[in-house]
Amino acid sequence: MRSVVQGCGSYLPERVVTNEELSRTVETTDEWIQQRTGIRQRHIAAEGEFTSHLALKASQRALEHAGLTGSDLDLIVLATATPDETFPATATRVQAELGMRGGAAFDVQAVCAGFVYAVSVADSLIKNGLASTALVIGAETFSRILDWEDRGTCVLFGDGAGAIVLKGEQGTGTSADRGILANALHSDGRQHDILYVDGGPSSTRTTGFLRMEGKEVFKHAVVNMAAVVGEVLHKAGLEPKDIDWLVPHQANKRIIDGTGRKLGLPPERVVVTVDRHANTSAASIPLALDVAVKDGRIKKGDLLLMEGIGGGLAWGASLVRW
Ligand code: COA
Repeated sequence: MRSVVQGCGSYLPERVVTNEELSRTVETTDEWIQQRTGIRQRHIAAEGEFTSHLALKASQRALEHAGLTGSDLDLIVLATATPDETFPATATRVQAELGMRGGAAFDVQAVCAGFVYAVSVADSLIKNGLASTALVIGAETFSRILDWEDRGTCVLFGDGAGAIVLKGEQGTGTSADRGILANALHSDGRQHDILYVDGGPSSTRTTGFLRMEGKEVFKHAVVNMAAVVGEVLHKAGLEPKDIDWLVPHQANKRIIDGTGRKLGLPPERVVVTVDRHANTSAASIPLALDVAVKDGRIKKGDLLLMEGIGGGLAWGASLVRW
């Protein structure tokens, strides 16, 4: 059994905030942000616009692209670190709005690795016969957990959502089959202090703000991404030269370039949206994916490598035959 991608969709809030606009409220410059991260602008959700609203719009577009409706789904896995409420799962809000009456909907929390985790969970449930048609969403409103006075973090993130639809289909069992070919997941809880939110319902009864030691995260990202990319290729019996597209988590252009170089991929085979979207955490991979599918770069049969790392630390990679 293979989980085959039927369609994708994404949504970005209307409001665009440029580096120049940010430099009017915190001590930073467009030049500093672009040089260190490659980010030029980010989208920020409007007052009253929640993670579920972004997720719903991305999901409707993904379903339309797949030629399906909410009632065709029997699973929603939504990756987010910024849910509408502490409970229930934001996925259940999307479920209700999509008119999906049966099946199961729940959230996955692995911060910036969330989408890869959610894909792996949905893929496993499909392969185990617990679901047949799944919506996998990455959706975030990180603007709500940023300390807008901390220039070391507030310039890095944005809001948005992306989604894909997966359907179980019988394959031949080779890497030529369409669908998810292999996944690899990891976490290392000892690295908590380099990237976390200093609040939560059980500890402080507040939402808290994102705290990060950027240099440390950078070092771990470079090492762990190289390792997990090798691992997932090995699992699928494939090599870097087989990859058509690297669709990485969009945190920082320098990290993305480093991973692309290690794989020996020319820059034009790497999908980059961090310049326009900044880091949208769990939403960044499906957002980048949707951009490259809709502009015609990614085509049926292409081999895609998705990878991401974030708070936890948690990281992972998925290989997909589109
Ligand atoms: N504008 C201008 N100056 C800034 C700034 C900003 N937005 N943010 C920090 N600085 C300053 C610092 O205060 C420091 O000044 P000092 O030397 O006077 O103390 C200087 O720039 C260097 O800061 P540092 O944090 O060492 O910079 P860096 O080269 O490590 O770049 C990051 C910072 C955050 C861009 C970089 O570490 C990074 O990208 N890390 C990975 C983060 C990431 O991707 N996280 C998400 C993973 S999901």
